[in-house]
Amino acid sequence: MAASTKHRIIVADDEHAITQGLSAILSDEGYDVSICADGQKALDELQSGDYGVVLADLMMPKVDGLSLLKALQDKGIPTECIIITGQATVDSAVQAMREGAYDYIEKPLNSEKLNRLKALIPKALEKYAIGQKNRELASRLETLTHYGELTGQSEEMRAVYQIIDAVAPSSASVLILGESGTGKELVARAVHSKSDRAKGPFFALNCAALPKDILENELFGHEKGAFTGSINEKPGAFEMADGGTIFLDEVAEMPTDIQVKLLRAIESRSVRRLGGKKEIAVDIRIVAATNMDLQKALEEGELREDLYYRLAVVELFLPALRERVSDIQLLANEFLLRFSRQNSKQLTGFDEDAWAWIHAYHWPGNVRELKNAVERAVIMARGTVVTAQDIMPRHLRLAAAAAAVAAAAPASDKAAPGKTAAGKTAAKPKSKTTRTGKR
Ligand SMILES: Nc1ncnc2c1ncn2[C@@H]1O[C@H](COP(=O)(O)OP(=O)(O)OP(=O)(O)O)[C@@H](O)[C@H]1O
Ligand SMILES: [Mg+2]
Repeated sequence: MAASTKHRIIVADDEHAITQGLSAILSDEGYDVSICADGQKALDELQSGDYGVVLADLMMPKVDGLSLLKALQDKGIPTECIIITGQATVDSAVQAMREGAYDYIEKPLNSEKLNRLKALIPKALEKYAIGQKNRELASRLETLTHYGELTGQSEEMRAVYQIIDAVAPSSASVLILGESGTGKELVARAVHSKSDRAKGPFFALNCAALPKDILENELFGHEKGAFTGSINEKPGAFEMADGGTIFLDEVAEMPTDIQVKLLRAIESRSVRRLGGKKEIAVDIRIVAATNMDLQKALEEGELREDLYYRLAVVELFLPALRERVSDIQLLANEFLLRFSRQNSKQLTGFDEDAWAWIHAYHWPGNVRELKNAVERAVIMARGTVVTAQDIMPRHLRLAAAAAAVAAAAPASDKAAPGKTAAGKTAAKPKSKTTRTGKR
């Protein structure tokens, strides 16, 4: 490796023996290593240079490992941090991981630990490189309205495109978070199609839809005779996605014992079929998604923390549609065109009331709901433009009609005083409908 392309690493520790030892070993691995005897020196050095990784002792003078990590984040320094910790402070190291450290390694640094460190550093550098590329692309993608199959021009969606662009070429795992209907599967496909695995398979599996045994079978496959009725062998998703991408949808709903197997497969890059003896090597990129509250899923143990760290090398959050107002109009117009064409209709747009309603509605089902609403509106529309009545979901349309009747009732009461009693009885059930409709 030429000196100029060497990855730069800082080793920050007050123990001379450790800095010297690590420096020698890591220089041998081809890295450009700088040594700092305390956290403050490391921070000064990190501010002045382009370092991919800092190995930071948890307990060191002036600025300790945790404070160094926090200072990096506060100052927007993207260097990945690997914490070195003594056995007594492992809890703090785990805490550091929660706060954004890449990983931690426990002293004493025997040969097993050093091997782990040697394996960790390239991965941390890869994550750093993805971040760098991400920042470089930020300006280039500023004017985009579309990206692959995704439509969206909001700042939030452009940030999503940047992350996909940066992460796609690597084989880093991506965890996509977002409410239902925000486009997680489209993003997963984009990650695949922008990667150099694009010619390989894309294999999607919904982990919430399948009973445990079937899910396990789908993931890992089975050998002939593995269980009653298994007359043929069957390769699992891992084998079938070899050379490509596997998309694990609703991953937080995967039973925990399968999560353990999944973790093992990811770490060993190999799978063993049910009833099988041999490990089958696989080369796959994992993209996972969940619409669950991740914090809650982790706290309640539904998603194993160790698996989470492996899946979320890059985390990608898809904002709800109501939070990106500038995309609503773009998407609505695009769906209108598409469904008009599909249904041989000559619709030219939405009327003012329809737009007012579209913008006021909170779209709990996100893009999926908007897409379905526009498709329905196109089919229902009688004129050349879509009206509010055409696009509103049925329950809201009924509620609006009821509210209109209720609002009109006192006026007609005045005009025809004899009908007061009937008007009141008519208004009551309608207002009930309004409440039911909002649920
Ligand atoms: N940005 C977008 N541009 C165009 N179409 C989109 C976009 N986002 C979502 N869609 C469409 O909305 C529908 C839902 O998208 P998708 O299945 O990817 O959502 P999801 O987040 O995976 O939802 P769920 O959590 O319910 O599985 C699909 O028909 C998809 O084509
Ligand atoms: Mg989905």
